[in-house]
Amino acid sequence: MDIDTLYALRSSSGLPSHPAVFLILLVLTWALHMIAVHVMLGSTALALTGAFAANAHWRRLGSAMLDTAKVAVSLAIVIGVAPLLFVQVIYDPFWYVSNVLSARWAIGFIVVLLVAYWAMYHHYFVGKEGSSGSSRWSLALSLILLLAAGFIMHVLASQALRPELWMAWYAPDGHLETSGAGIHEFNLARFSFFIALAAPVTGAWLLGYRRYLAHREDENPEYLDWIAGLGRKLMTGGGFVVLICYAMWMATLQDTAGNFPLSLWSFLANGAILLLILAPALFRSPSGSYGAFATAAGAVLLVAVAREALRHRILGGAHGYELSTYTIHFDWYSNALFCLTFVGLGGFAIAYSIAISWEAGKTKGLYTASPRVDRLGKFALAALCIWIAQYFFFGFLVMAQ
Ligand code: HEM
Repeated sequence: MDIDTLYALRSSSGLPSHPAVFLILLVLTWALHMIAVHVMLGSTALALTGAFAANAHWRRLGSAMLDTAKVAVSLAIVIGVAPLLFVQVIYDPFWYVSNVLSARWAIGFIVVLLVAYWAMYHHYFVGKEGSSGSSRWSLALSLILLLAAGFIMHVLASQALRPELWMAWYAPDGHLETSGAGIHEFNLARFSFFIALAAPVTGAWLLGYRRYLAHREDENPEYLDWIAGLGRKLMTGGGFVVLICYAMWMATLQDTAGNFPLSLWSFLANGAILLLILAPALFRSPSGSYGAFATAAGAVLLVAVAREALRHRILGGAHGYELSTYTIHFDWYSNALFCLTFVGLGGFAIAYSIAISWEAGKTKGLYTASPRVDRLGKFALAALCIWIAQYFFFGFLVMAQ
């Protein structure tokens, strides 16, 4: 695909701000999406193991992780919207072509997610306590479908990196193929790499969970040590699996990636994986640690940076696609609205959700929110009301012009 055609596929409305702003936001929000995805996959896998296990520790952890999984799946989906918007803004020719080529899968993605969500809740409502019944299988179905949703995302991301093959996929032997039913490109090593990262990230989550439970007076110390041991094993063992997947991904990279495996970015990704492997040695406190999870989040961010550098190497280096050539129609209102929404609305709402779950988890019996958390909730609600009011105010103002 020549560069003029690629540029012609861009939205003619241009960008409301500099492309670098969207690029940074894309990387940041994608890293957040993946942290939620990793916790979601890891906690679902632990909940599933617990549902089938006879061991009391496993059953208890499985039940607790089901609560984590329910929240993480919502966060993964909600946060996933942000990189979806940014990728559409600065990589629109690639993302839309990829979606159209596999349109049925892109739409089917939503159905897959709906069923995965439903299946997880089915297990939650029907079988959480005495998880010996058939609802355990619906949790297994949920995990499989969540992985399938991730695979669809992987296919869409991979096809977007192959402009040179689009015509062959769209018109094989000169005949148009407009069904959108095909899956044209994937790399199992790359997909496995992103999925395997769930093991060390969940291991770090368990170390944080161990620390969180340390405040409870009546906790069983044997259970707490067991959680910490499991978390460490997942971080180190899972980290090695991630390293192998990364090496396999690099060995099977497409030609247009050039010498990316030897680039600084690739070393950065390797460094991030080593950090995950070594984190249990860095945070050795027997009562667990929140630092391990912060380290894991940092490692995922470094991986996100390297992944973006690879996209730039392929689309910029091999195809000559430059983000800097976007037309910019600077729009103060939408820039300010985005930042204020992100910080003001999202900030308060997320802080409130975290604060209330944090307090509730530490309370025995019936939980009543503390005055501080209550105030935070009122701020979050007020921010939402102000947001809705300004939305209609500016909407009517524009219509009246
Ligand atoms: C809940 C199940 C999900 C899983 C397991 C999952 C997993 C993944 C994985 C593994 C990737 C990396 C693909 C690659 O680069 O090879 C990815 C990318 C991405 N995901 Fe998700 N995802 C899920 C849901 C979602 C949802 C609901 C959204 C949007 C609302 C979303 C938006 C994205 C976006 C925008 C990308 C990056 C595309 C790009 O940069 O080209 N994901 N996801």
